[in-house]
Amino acid sequence: MYLDQAASSFPKPPEVVEAMTKALTEYAANPGRSGHKMSVKANEVISQAREQLAHFFGFKYPNRVCFTSNATSALNQALKGFPFQSGDHVLTTSYEHNSVRRPLEDIKRKRGIEITYFDSGTSEDFDIAAFEESITPQTKMIVVSHGSNLTGKIVPIKKIGKLAKDKGVPFLVDAAQTAGVLPIDVEEMNIDLLVFPGHKGLLGPQGTGVLMVGKEVSLEPIFHGGTGSRSESIEQPEVYPEYLESGTLNTPGIAGLLAGLEVVKKLGLDEIHRHEQRLTKKLIEGLHSIDYLKVYGPHSDRLGVVPFTIEGIDSQEIAIILDQHYDIAVRAGLHCTPIGHESIGTCGAVRISVGPYNTEEEIDQVILALQEIVEGYFG
Ligand SMILES: Cc1ncc(COP(=O)(O)O)c(C=O)c1O
Repeated sequence: MYLDQAASSFPKPPEVVEAMTKALTEYAANPGRSGHKMSVKANEVISQAREQLAHFFGFKYPNRVCFTSNATSALNQALKGFPFQSGDHVLTTSYEHNSVRRPLEDIKRKRGIEITYFDSGTSEDFDIAAFEESITPQTKMIVVSHGSNLTGKIVPIKKIGKLAKDKGVPFLVDAAQTAGVLPIDVEEMNIDLLVFPGHKGLLGPQGTGVLMVGKEVSLEPIFHGGTGSRSESIEQPEVYPEYLESGTLNTPGIAGLLAGLEVVKKLGLDEIHRHEQRLTKKLIEGLHSIDYLKVYGPHSDRLGVVPFTIEGIDSQEIAIILDQHYDIAVRAGLHCTPIGHESIGTCGAVRISVGPYNTEEEIDQVILALQEIVEGYFG
């Protein structure tokens, strides 16, 4: 039983497997590099993926949909490629993943920026007025994770986007936990930089990620190299998407991501979110019925991501028992967000996360397993 969807979604839909197999067996030539039919076909599929993704996320510029190998590489490009200078300020939150925090801290060390980690609390509320007060004249970017990979808390990115626009500050959204689960409209939400992986809610394969770069933002590439275009020049071509896409793209992965996106569209975002909320509500109710167990995160409107601890038992130990004895895959530890754990007052937790293919029966089974584990420990 797979309840680690926040890390990577599983199983992948058969459509994804078929699309990748077709790419690998029929046309996985180097896309856009050569003029032959296979290369052209690979390029066509990649262009189609750019267009479909742009359309799905309300982004007007398919050519500025840049493929990366995961959300982390897209975040590194967006942050390290931004022209931050000494004294600039970045406003972000205390729930950010290390994929935001570490690049920011690296920029802080090397370029002397200031960072504010706004603590948005543990409930579903987000104090937008207090957030606004943290913006200073030096604020050069607002970076927000749309949904916490620790507590499932959803951040009101539309309101933050409006604020960012009013203040003239570029807005970067890390949609790692929400792309394919919640509606995101780049234009309507005033998002300048949107990042997401292909391998979570969009049901695509690992090795895929996306960075959408709005027209108002200029980035420096963090990678330079072959782009298949303007090869005579020693400079990186300043044309998107090649500008940020050095090296051969992951054609089979992108074909799989395109197929995953089609499945998400067919299932419908509303239905996916409703299903995950149904499972989450049932899961939280069940967890609350277990002695010695504490659940964290908002009470109602949240993603299908639920962390908990059991008094006196190490989170890794619980995850190992669930895996070894019950065949249930969950994730324990710090979930790449030590500051998120500080915010909720834990130094490790077990995280159960659900997706569109999980069922109510599975929730019943994990609750039973945890009841047994607690009885085993406490009698
Ligand atoms: C909020 C958040 N941001 C970024 C990432 C990094 O994603 P990837 O593993 O695709 O680089 C994750 C992965 O769990 C995440 O949950």
